[in-house]
Formats: sequence, structure tokens, C-alpha cells
Amino acid sequence: MASIVLPRIIRSGGGSLSELPATLSQLGLTAPFVITDAFLASNGLLDRLLAVLDSASISVGLFAGAQADPTTKVIDTALAAMQEGAYDCVLGFGGGSPIDTAKAVAVLAKRPMSYAQMKAPAQIDDAGLPIIAVPTTAGTGSEATRFTIITDEATQEKMLCIGLGFLPSIAIVDFELTMGKPRRLTADTGIDSLTHAIEAYVSRRANPFSDAMALSAMRLIAPNLRIACAEPGNRMARAAMMEGALHAGIAFSNASVALVHGMSRPIGALFHVPHGLSNAMLLPAVTAFSAPAALQRYAECARAMALADPGEGDQAAVAALIGELEALNTELEVPSPAGYGVDRERWFDNIALMARQAIASGSPANNPRLADGEEIEQLYRELWV
Ligand SMILES: NC(=O)c1ccc[n+]([C@@H]2O[C@H](COP(=O)([O-])OP(=O)(O)OC[C@H]3O[C@@H](n4cnc5c(N)ncnc54)[C@H](O)[C@@H]3O)[C@@H](O)[C@H]2O)c1
Ligand SMILES: [Fe+2]
Repeated sequence: MASIVLPRIIRSGGGSLSELPATLSQLGLTAPFVITDAFLASNGLLDRLLAVLDSASISVGLFAGAQADPTTKVIDTALAAMQEGAYDCVLGFGGGSPIDTAKAVAVLAKRPMSYAQMKAPAQIDDAGLPIIAVPTTAGTGSEATRFTIITDEATQEKMLCIGLGFLPSIAIVDFELTMGKPRRLTADTGIDSLTHAIEAYVSRRANPFSDAMALSAMRLIAPNLRIACAEPGNRMARAAMMEGALHAGIAFSNASVALVHGMSRPIGALFHVPHGLSNAMLLPAVTAFSAPAALQRYAECARAMALADPGEGDQAAVAALIGELEALNTELEVPSPAGYGVDRERWFDNIALMARQAIASGSPANNPRLADGEEIEQLYRELWV
């Protein structure tokens, strides 16, 4: 049995940002508290959002202090800033980090709780303030997911938080906001969404609805990722990547991610590797590890990505998929942990901790091939070379 959850309103396509005021009024919302980061507040993108709201005489509160991989401290600060005024919704503007910050703030505004109470396996289904998500990266799909990911500063753990409370009411998905993304960010966020699509499709919790969205995401992302990196001004490629990220987000919100994401979060938390990059580091090896348990599913991924002919056997299709994921990493210059500058001793000292945190997040339990602690540690060890 499948249970599907979605934002109430999704407006996507070039120029959809201009529809934000009308969409807010559809839900009777008049006073948004905007959460973004300092870079977007200074590079002109936030000004575009504020101009659209201003043109409809909507005045806003603003917190521009969101940080990459939001921490409990930043969320507490944003919440305190919001509570100084009177707002009826929280608007996350930016990549996954500002959107995830907004999600946590929206829930905590209505129902105070500790972060230990908020993290998985807890289900936070109570509605907080309505969440509006306006993504500026084509990556996390957070605009359409029932997740937020928060780093606990005390334990250095990247916590997955799950529940309807984190699902945006409105997603405005305008690829024009992504046209200025630099190459590295385009590659990292693009691989993040490709990982969402593949993991949703092979997940033990996949269902016909999530399958359709995952395959659609792969069809959009696979032929456009390299183009978006090589030709930043290519509107067709940017549009496809943004739509693909949205479809992938819808897919994994309804099927969950799996071992790649479970293992990726601790790398992000401990070594501050950007989320998409740590996924990319893991994706070929974890795919090779997992494929024997779901050969046909991975072969379908290869076919959706146009890496294998429809008549080609599963084994050959999966080999093509793994080859493509390795080639993508080479071409998009994805470093190894060592290449990224991670200290060798710290890496090996933390492998047992990373494996424990990966398992605790619950995501590895959705993987087609279940990995025990020792196997996860071995995958981390092999990632070093
Ligand atoms: N909630 C979910 O469902 C979900 C899913 C996957 C990942 N995540 C989380 O999302 C976070 C990563 O988000 P992200 O990859 O979107 O990056 P991000 O939000 O951390 O942003 C990375 C950098 O890109 C900049 N940036 C954003 N948009 C830009 C643009 N259009 N042009 C130029 N620069 C721009 C930002 O200012 C920032 O410096 C991680 O914390 C990850 O764990 C959440
Ligand atoms: Fe992700």
C-alpha cells in the first residue's frame, strides 16, 4: 500500500516566481517571514523575491543568516527573530539549507520541542506554520519533501527529521533563479537530485507513484546534467534540471532515500563536504554494492537514463549505469575524501561513528541490499582510496 503526500500548490516553470503573491492569497496568507542566506541576500536573487512581494504590497520579515547545513543554533536564532513579529507563514528562499531552516522554524513556532524529540524515527505530523519553499538550487527537492535535515552542534550529527509538519504548503519552482549557479554547485546539486531519483526507485518503500516520478526525474536529469555544467546559460537544460530535481524530491519524499544518503550525512556533518558532493563520492560504490539485490530495478534506471537499449540484458545495463556514474564523477571533477582535504587519521578514526549515525538515520534500512555495520564501515574504508 502506498501513501502519497505532496505540497498543496506547486507552481513550476520560468517566471513562476511572479505568481507567488497570487498563490499566497489562494491560501489566505499575508505576512511571510523570509529565511535566506547571506550570499543570496547580496547577489541580487533575494531582491527579485522582495520586489515581487513588494509589487503586491506584501511586507515581510527577514532572516538572512541561514548557513549551509543548518545547525540547531541557527534555527534557534531564526526562530527568535521571527517571534519578534507577527507572521502567518515561513518562506524558505535558497538551496536546501534555507528551506530546511524554514521548515524547522515553522514547526517549532507552533510546537516547541527538543531536537532529540524532533529527529527520526519520530514522526512530526502536526501542522506548524504554513511553509512556502522557493528553491534557487536544482538539487535537494526540499520544496516538495516531508523532511528537514538539521545538524546538532553538540554531537556533530546530521539529523534527519520526518513528518507532514515539514512538507511545504506552497512550492514555487522557477528555474530562472538557478541561471547564475556556478559549475561546482550545478554539478553537486545535480548529482544530489540524480541520487534522490535512483535511491527512490530502488528503495524498499518504492511504489507506483514514486516510481513514475523517479523515472521522470532520471529522464530529465541524465541528458541535461553535463549540459547545465558546461553551458550555464542553457535555459532548456536549467529548466530540465529544476523540474527533474522537483520530480526526484516528490519521488523520495514518498519512497525514502537509502544507503547513499544514510552514509552521506555523517560525511557532511563531520567533514563539511557539501551534500551533493558527498553523495557523488558514494554513489558509484554504493550502487555497485547494492545492485546484485535489485538488478532489474537498477537496469531500469540505466534505461531511463538512456544508457542501455530497451532489449539489453539487466547485467549489461547495470554495468553501463555504474560506468556512467564513475564517468560523471571524473568529468565533473568529484574529489575523493582525500582530494577534498579530509585528514586521513580523522577519517579512519570516525568510521565507526559514521556507520552508527548512518544506521540510526533509518535510511540504510530502505536499501535493496541491507548493509550491516561492518559492511558500511568497509564501504567507508574503500571510499578513501
Ligand atoms: N529536506 C530535504 O528533503 C533535503 C534533501 C536533500 C538535501 N537536503 C539538505 O540541503 C542542504 C544542501 O542544500 P543545497 O545543496 O541546495 O545547498 P545550500 O542551500 O547549502 O547552498 C549552497 C551554496 O549555494 C549558494 N546558492 C544557492 N542558490 C544559488 C544560486 N542560484 N546561485 C548561486 N549560488 C547559490 C548558497 O548561497 C550557498 O552558499 C544540506 O543541508 C542537505 O542535507 C535536504
Ligand atoms: Fe539529498
